[in-house]
Amino acid sequence: MLYRHMVLTYRKSRVKDADVRRLVLIAVLGVFLLVLLLRTNTIIELVTRYSYETNESLEVRINDNYTLGVKMGLNLPKQNEFSISLERRNRMPPRNLDLYPKLAKDHVVIVLYVHNRPQYLRIVVDSLSRVSGIGETLLIVSHDGFFEGMNKIVEGIKFCQVKQIFAPYSPHVFPNGFPGVSPSDCKEKDDHVKMKCEGTPDQYGNHRSPKIVSLKHHWWWMMNTVWDGLKETKGHFGHILFIEEDHFIYPNAYRNLQLLIDLKPKKCPDCYAANLAPSDVKSRGEGWESLVAERMGNVGYSFNRTVWRKIHRKAREFCSFDDYNWDITMWATVYPSFGGPVYTLRGPRTSAVHFGKCGLHQGQGEKSACIDNGVVNVEVGDADKVPNIKSDWEVYVYNRQDGYKAGFRGWGGWGDIRDRQLCLNFANMYWASESQGV
Ligand SMILES: *[C@@H]1O[C@H](CO)[C@@H](O)[C@H](O)[C@H]1NC(C)=O
Ligand SMILES: *[C@@H]1O[C@H](CO)[C@@H](O)[C@H](O)[C@H]1NC(C)=O
Ligand SMILES: *[C@@H]1O[C@H](CO)[C@@H](O)[C@H](O)[C@H]1NC(C)=O
Repeated sequence: MLYRHMVLTYRKSRVKDADVRRLVLIAVLGVFLLVLLLRTNTIIELVTRYSYETNESLEVRINDNYTLGVKMGLNLPKQNEFSISLERRNRMPPRNLDLYPKLAKDHVVIVLYVHNRPQYLRIVVDSLSRVSGIGETLLIVSHDGFFEGMNKIVEGIKFCQVKQIFAPYSPHVFPNGFPGVSPSDCKEKDDHVKMKCEGTPDQYGNHRSPKIVSLKHHWWWMMNTVWDGLKETKGHFGHILFIEEDHFIYPNAYRNLQLLIDLKPKKCPDCYAANLAPSDVKSRGEGWESLVAERMGNVGYSFNRTVWRKIHRKAREFCSFDDYNWDITMWATVYPSFGGPVYTLRGPRTSAVHFGKCGLHQGQGEKSACIDNGVVNVEVGDADKVPNIKSDWEVYVYNRQDGYKAGFRGWGGWGDIRDRQLCLNFANMYWASESQGV
């Protein structure tokens, strides 16, 4: 623009003097070079800032083929045939690519992690099928163990791209050895010296229970895998939403979440995440005309890769904290280590509810089986069918909320060094560097 304008003025003035002409030419060239220089600088600055933000460039990826990565220098349990076959399955492309060939530019990937409660999963999947915008995204279902009843439900999904992954080191996949139950393992409060059994007790003197540790293992394996291990999501720089097999999702959840993610940087710089539901799982929200910032909840939470990298850097803390609950581990060790308040942003009216009456370990053929046929009475009102968050709302911040925090020593169940090592190995599966060690 500047250049053209100068040339025009130059022509109009019809100056004949050659010296003046040369001078103007030099000036024009100078401006041209300056513009070029500024542009290049901006590009360099953008690239630097980008790699700084994601820290991608600072870490070297082992290999695109993560099975190879898994085997390089990591002391992972020896896999059986079945475990290997699950890993092979994890590399299969998403289903429904013919129906939904393209993902929307600003899509929020949804990860649904499940164990074995088909009567619940059916309800969750049905609720997801009614979510506006769901067809724009990829749904990843992460399975802890392999259960035909669960697969059938996932295979029936036709409302979006869907990919199934199976935790190949789940205790449920190892019937006679670590990470499953091994005959030489200590049980309950066994003295490992007297009994000559294997295992490190937790802070309360109890030995590991494979069924119980499987939760935390699955969550951590899944996090590492969806952010860093899958071809489909390795390059995803937006948010990922995490839900469980007993979370009912309202029709407006996806559009509301997109709004929250948009508003987060402007409205709540201390917010690391956006949530579909209040952190108090019994609450349906305050119904105010206001956004809410509060402590991270565990129903329908979403965050981006920057936050994941921060979490990943705390692998040692996560893996060595003596509590078998991933969420309590996060509240008591990982979030407090960020060095400031860790809030999540949400609307004043929930877009997801936790409905399960049975715990994850109940209802699996034990004496104390918890049976409920998965009848839920979630009332979906008109206000839950359309986006109900306003961008001109203020943010109400809950300052001193109850809950687990730094200083809590943990409920135990995570004392065995083999579990801690496996957990650390998951953090290193897809990366060559980073200081967690092996
Ligand atoms: C990226 O990593 C470097 C060194 O490991 C660290 O100093 C920096 O704070 C990190 N950046 C972000 C945005 O986390
Ligand atoms: C990935 O691993 C599979 C099986 O281990 C192998 O057949 C394939 O060639 C590998 N791909 C690459 C790109 O290394
Ligand atoms: C990711 O989210 C965090 C916390 O909200 C924010 O500070 C950061 O800028 C975001 N990163 C990107 C790449 O958008």
